[in-house]
Amino acid sequence: MKMNIIEVESYEEMSEKASELFIQKVRNNPNAKLGLATGSTPLGTYKRMIADYKKNGTSYKNVTTVNLDEYVGLSKKHPSSYRYYMNERFYHHLNLKQENAHVPDGTALDLTIECERYESLIDQLGGLDIQLLGIGQNGHIGFNEPGTSFDSLTHVVELTENTREVNGRFFQNREEVPTKAITMGIASILKSKRIVLLISGKEKSQALHRLLNEDVTENFPASALKKHPNFTLIYDKEAWKGV
Ligand code: F6R
Repeated sequence: MKMNIIEVESYEEMSEKASELFIQKVRNNPNAKLGLATGSTPLGTYKRMIADYKKNGTSYKNVTTVNLDEYVGLSKKHPSSYRYYMNERFYHHLNLKQENAHVPDGTALDLTIECERYESLIDQLGGLDIQLLGIGQNGHIGFNEPGTSFDSLTHVVELTENTREVNGRFFQNREEVPTKAITMGIASILKSKRIVLLISGKEKSQALHRLLNEDVTENFPASALKKHPNFTLIYDKEAWKGV
């Protein structure tokens, strides 16, 4: 295994370590291209990056960010859209330029063209410098559910009932959860020069142990990361113990 593994005590410590990696990247390269994720896991990392910006003035003026995914059919203004989440939790608190903050457009009329545009964007940027990831209980990364080809590029996915149920917590009611999303594919994610996966909490215990112990298989999407030459896994004790 080529993984660089960091075990920490808590969610807070995990967020601290992850934010250090991203802040360092931006300080070393003011034109850094950051791959970002939504969900609960990265919130502590974003908080610390914002705190650092306010305190130390680390500048995002020339930084570009590229998010993993977005729901199909939700406008930027919908409070459960990933664009809205990023605006509220990250973009609006830094001197990042809106035009450099990318999220797939889930309202595009032609979704195939939108997927191609997004993949070309990643290529035009020369690949991302560092990609932040969370993991689903079933090993999904982005919206790449078990069975997704490791060759997949940005594409439209039908969300599984399980993912819709788990993500229902970010919606007023369960019926509102879209049935489709646009996601960077596994091959798109692997284009990043460095990948940082965060795993925290007992709900992710099984996913963590599967990642550590199982072979690389399309039935467990996150296992693809083990083929990447610069992959860092940061997990906390709760995820390790499962209690
Ligand atoms: C988010 C994403 C998802 C989440 C995963 C874990 O952009 O692509 O793969 O990273 O579902 O979500 P949380 O962090 O909420 O447990």
